[in-house]
Amino acid sequence: MQTILIFYMKINNTFVKFLLPVVLLISTQIQAVDKNSFQQEAQDFVASLKKSFMRELESGLKKGAYKSIDICHLKVPHIQEGKINEKFEFGRTSHKVRNLTNTPKEWLRPIVAEYRKSSEANPLRPKVVMVDKRMAYVEPIYVKPVCLQCHGNPVESVQKKISKLYPKDQAVGFKLGEFRGLFWVLQRSSSD
Ligand code: HEC
Repeated sequence: MQTILIFYMKINNTFVKFLLPVVLLISTQIQAVDKNSFQQEAQDFVASLKKSFMRELESGLKKGAYKSIDICHLKVPHIQEGKINEKFEFGRTSHKVRNLTNTPKEWLRPIVAEYRKSSEANPLRPKVVMVDKRMAYVEPIYVKPVCLQCHGNPVESVQKKISKLYPKDQAVGFKLGEFRGLFWVLQRSSSD
């Protein structure tokens, strides 16, 4: 009886020793595939968001920064609403926000702090992180020349208008190539 038991345990042990790595390997591969496809989808989503923002911004700036503020102010929420979908929550955030609703959520704070040290010259790549059991994609935004009109040292009339619309604005004083903020995309939880 004892020998049978020991024999059985031995087989079983080898079996577990053999099977466990296989199971682990397969599950990490599945996770990697999930992560890659999420990253791709989120990246495409951010690309389409960026395109819509830039299209509005460029057409608005033809009328000058002063007039464009209204466009940013009024159209940004509109663009965002147009992109709302069942899969993702998303937004923009920053260490220095203009619109207080973009203040970093708890999970974004350490990520913003990490990316803040990066710049266009020394960029950090976008990445996928876990937020509880959900995947989130974050992509840094660096300051381009066109951004400076409203986020650098805006001319007086522009500055006045910004201060009127956003009395608590912190999003000025940025330099070219500096880290401006992040796009973030979070998987919706199934209970949402
Ligand atoms: C014509 C003025 C104008 C220009 C030019 C402009 N922005 Fe903004 N930006 C705004 C306004 C207004 C808001 C607040 C929008 C809102 O109410 O959600 C804003 C908000 C943002 C936010 C969201 C975080 C926050 O501070 O609330 C980011 C990120 C941002 N801008 C980045 C950029 C970048 C990058 C560029 C250049 C490609 C740029 N902006 C050019 C006016 C401008």
